[in-house]
Amino acid sequence: GGGPSSMGHMDHMDHMGGMSVADLTGPKTGTPDVNVTLVARKQKFQLASGETVDGYTVNGTSPGPLIRAKVGDLVQVTFVNESVKDGATLHWHGIDVPNAEDGVAGVTQDAVPVGGKHVYRFKAEQAGTYWYHSHQVSSDEVKGGLFGPIVIAPATPGEVIATIHTYDGKRTINGRTGAARVDLPAGTAARVRVINTDNAILRVGLLGTPYKVVAVDGHDVHGPTPVTAAYPLPAGGRVDLEAVVPARGMRLVAGASSLSLGIAPAGTDPPTGDLPGDTVDLLTYGTPAPLGFDPSKANRNFDYRIGRTAGFLDGKPGLWWTINGHMFPDVPMFMVAEGDVVRMKISNTSGQAHPMHLHGHHAVVLSRNGVPATGTPWWTDTLEVGNKETYEIAFVANNPGLWMDHCHNLPHASQGLMTHLMYE
Ligand code: C2O
Ligand code: CU
Repeated sequence: GGGPSSMGHMDHMDHMGGMSVADLTGPKTGTPDVNVTLVARKQKFQLASGETVDGYTVNGTSPGPLIRAKVGDLVQVTFVNESVKDGATLHWHGIDVPNAEDGVAGVTQDAVPVGGKHVYRFKAEQAGTYWYHSHQVSSDEVKGGLFGPIVIAPATPGEVIATIHTYDGKRTINGRTGAARVDLPAGTAARVRVINTDNAILRVGLLGTPYKVVAVDGHDVHGPTPVTAAYPLPAGGRVDLEAVVPARGMRLVAGASSLSLGIAPAGTDPPTGDLPGDTVDLLTYGTPAPLGFDPSKANRNFDYRIGRTAGFLDGKPGLWWTINGHMFPDVPMFMVAEGDVVRMKISNTSGQAHPMHLHGHHAVVLSRNGVPATGTPWWTDTLEVGNKETYEIAFVANNPGLWMDHCHNLPHASQGLMTHLMYE
């Protein structure tokens, strides 16, 4: 694929059988407000803290460069694969782009081969914290470093971005192991944008001052109140934490106290220690606000049962994940029509937790284990569903195409825990 006009939505439609031909690409005309080239490489590289890793980079580093846009911007990214043997793509995790821009190899495009390029164009519509990553052999390429942060919002003096990733067993924030720091004067209104690019849930939080959970997965929390409890950040999820920098400074802790980011006035030593044992629960945090649609008027109701069964995957025997009793690709798709109000009951009896990620849409959590949500509208694109838990979610089918819905513990996705949402 070359320029945006050769992005091949016809190819895409070929996969979609009887669906009428629709243009599911981003804007074809218009001068981009944000125009970047991202080059993927397989290489040995140095983490920001100096350790050498054999993995993948974007423009020579991992995490790759920050993409910053404002709401309304036309974003154009020219993606070049210099040396990633399996091919690579870029997926805009959490950004509800038009389907053909979603960057899913084998679904919305072919993987970009070594020496190839692909141009993505989409409008930044929802302010927030996101990330991009390869969606080809993701369990290997994301783990190895083929990702980076995206922020849709103007930069502020108090903004701190914290991309958390484990490379080869080395736990990092922004590519640094151990305790890193940024200097911010006391009294600064800090907004800490935390991105979990790993495969497991991570408790994060600020030590040294109460803070507010102000946004989750690119949606503002309504009526946030100060907390000191930790926030459980699912694999693939994002959370924005807000606090005023105290005179002694504060510290973002990611999981164990051995990984942290001090945010403090120059020359001060921010507090150290472990996160408290209690946990912020979005089911009750914040205050309700209108959803913009009525989930009780749902015209599609789906059961989404996550289980585990003995079977064969690619000819390999094992215990594989299932959705409604089936392994990908034998899972029936969830079919919707544009405009549908969709309710989904996700239950998990598989023995492990799964961070479930729906592409192209944000869903609101209605209940967990039968207990209705009473806090902020809990909009999410990446929802941790624990073993023996049941979530009811709802969303409006407002973004036509063929969308992935899978576990973001990425080895699980390649072990069967993956399906599609498809528009008829
Ligand atoms: Cu962040 Cu289907 O992926
Ligand atoms: Cu999983």
